[in-house]
Amino acid sequence: MSLLDVLESLGNIGLVPLAAVDRAEDAVDLAKALKAGGIGTVEITFRTECAAEAIRQVKRKTSDFLVGAGTVINPDQAKKAVRAGADYIVMPGFDEKVVDWCIENHVPVIPGCITPSEIMKAISKGLSVVKFFPAESCGGVKACASLAAPFGSVKFLVTGGVSPGNLSEYAKKDFIHSMGGSWLCSKEAVKAKNWNKITETAKEAVAQLLGFEVVHVGINTRSPDEAAEISKNLASTFGFPCFVNSASTFVGTGFEINHSEGLGSNGHVAIDTNSVSRSEYYLTAHAGVTFDETSRVKSGGKTTVVYLQKEFGGFAVHLRQRK
Ligand code: 3PG
Repeated sequence: MSLLDVLESLGNIGLVPLAAVDRAEDAVDLAKALKAGGIGTVEITFRTECAAEAIRQVKRKTSDFLVGAGTVINPDQAKKAVRAGADYIVMPGFDEKVVDWCIENHVPVIPGCITPSEIMKAISKGLSVVKFFPAESCGGVKACASLAAPFGSVKFLVTGGVSPGNLSEYAKKDFIHSMGGSWLCSKEAVKAKNWNKITETAKEAVAQLLGFEVVHVGINTRSPDEAAEISKNLASTFGFPCFVNSASTFVGTGFEINHSEGLGSNGHVAIDTNSVSRSEYYLTAHAGVTFDETSRVKSGGKTTVVYLQKEFGGFAVHLRQRK
């Protein structure tokens, strides 16, 4: 995988579990448990002696799984990690020697940057993803948004205090590349080899990351007149206001009455998500879903609406970017 592909996949996975393992073998079970929960990566931190060996074993015993090396603070660790098979390097701060070595060796590197000057340094090296750490102590999503504002080309891996309590806040933001944290690899669960717990936590985090929510039902009609009739009926029955658009009329926010035969034998269901691109990645990888390219709507290069190819009980389904 090319350097940019690794970073793109990592951004689509969106969650970066941080593990400090005491036994290299544990990292393999941990990686498998995370994968079973839908998370296709782990960042193994150089906070324990066996980090490089753990990376080596996970690389050898998993497939379609990205292994990162975390808490890398000198070139020697970066070299060890890459020799062991690490797909990417994450640093808590900005060490020029590590960054330069990674660039020279075409290794994806994500340095820690919490000031505009550090971000400018990263940009001058051609980097597009930096780590905002410790995120919550540095002001959380608000501070990250302010920091991101002048630097449109840069996205942030946020870690440090990210948890199920604030994950959704970060997940919605365009400037967030991914969200990392140790809560996805709880030390207690690893110590007790409670791999089911790791898998369950991963599943819950993925659900929160994607944030699926049914938001409206679309009803197909044969003509604008029929659509007007149905809209009037729904509006007078439930007291919802009507919003007439060119191709459909919304009755409240829950009904969309198409002015013609839209997609789906009976109509469609709209599902909001925190990120259409991450949802596409997950649904493709874990549910074999394919998408109807003719239906794709984009804004600023980003998909805002796309239909799944299959129907559910006569209803088409489209994803919609949550506002
Ligand atoms: C890191 O190295 O990114 C942090 O130690 C992770 O912080 P957390 O334990 O709060 O997730």
